[in-house]
Amino acid sequence: MENTTTNNISSGVNNLDLNDKDTFINEFGGLVTNNGHASDEIVIKMSEVSKWYGNFQVLTNCTAHVHKGDVVVVCGPSGSGKSTLIKTVNGLEPFQKGQILVNGVSVGDPKTNLPKLRSQVGMVFQHFELFPHLTILDNLTVAQIKVLGRKEGDAKQKAMSYLDRVGLSAQAPKYPAELSGGQQQRVAIARALSMNPVAMLFDEPTSALDPEMIQEVLDVMIELAREGMTMMCVTHEMGFASQVANRIIFMDEGHIVENCSKDEFFAGAKSDRAQAFLSKILNH
Ligand SMILES: Nc1ncnc2c1ncn2[C@@H]1O[C@H](COP(=O)(O)OP(=O)(O)OP(=O)(O)O)[C@@H](O)[C@H]1O
Ligand SMILES: [Mg+2]
Repeated sequence: MENTTTNNISSGVNNLDLNDKDTFINEFGGLVTNNGHASDEIVIKMSEVSKWYGNFQVLTNCTAHVHKGDVVVVCGPSGSGKSTLIKTVNGLEPFQKGQILVNGVSVGDPKTNLPKLRSQVGMVFQHFELFPHLTILDNLTVAQIKVLGRKEGDAKQKAMSYLDRVGLSAQAPKYPAELSGGQQQRVAIARALSMNPVAMLFDEPTSALDPEMIQEVLDVMIELAREGMTMMCVTHEMGFASQVANRIIFMDEGHIVENCSKDEFFAGAKSDRAQAFLSKILNH
């Protein structure tokens, strides 16, 4: 087993620049490379991040750089720590060791203004998390006014332009319960965008949707990616990963086992754990 991994890795490594300090084979035999980034500018820099829930270590020495314009798909088995990893990026989950910088600002520093930082990192969850008692328009304006201090008129204008972008301006006066799941998720994306984030985090944004609504949400995400938005997406949508992502992070048991370009990931020749996961997902 070990030998197979080593041979596979060796054949992949032949084409890599091992002088590049970000290219190495990690402790699991997975490739970690600096290839395939969208730009040189790092927006999210995670260094050796570890986190525990009591005695249970949920993240172990997670290191990853997300560059401006990168679309990073985070995948891996259930319970591997994907949600926890991306929630540490905007301070929704504290961590005990390591460092995370978002545009140079340290997330774990107690002096950091977390509400301000969160406003710069849009987060879209599986279950939309819209305010049920507010109209769609108010869902989009409340944080702009309260966190960014925008004037109501400006916030409304911005909200309407983002609702228009996701094809939902006609729904502005309605309440979330009056919209379909796919529409609510597009509202959640528009709400995050109206804060002018430097990056967007998605945690399985399509997994609670009926099949016919998945594509309308993926289409919005694809458009965002094409416009150059920096994105970290936890998703099982491997079609999205293979077509839209430029980087893949594969997690297992709290470790980042693979962190490489999309092409390297799908070309094979990786850790046994990622291969087993991929074959399960692709044969599903
Ligand atoms: N609040 C918590 N307290 C204790 N353990 C937790 C807590 N939240 C998550 N965990 C554990 O941490 C591990 C990672 O959870 P996480 O939700 O990050 O996994 P995941 O990869 O997102 O899984 P899934 O694909 O099912 O969403 C799991 O073993 C989970 O049971
Ligand atoms: Mg999860």
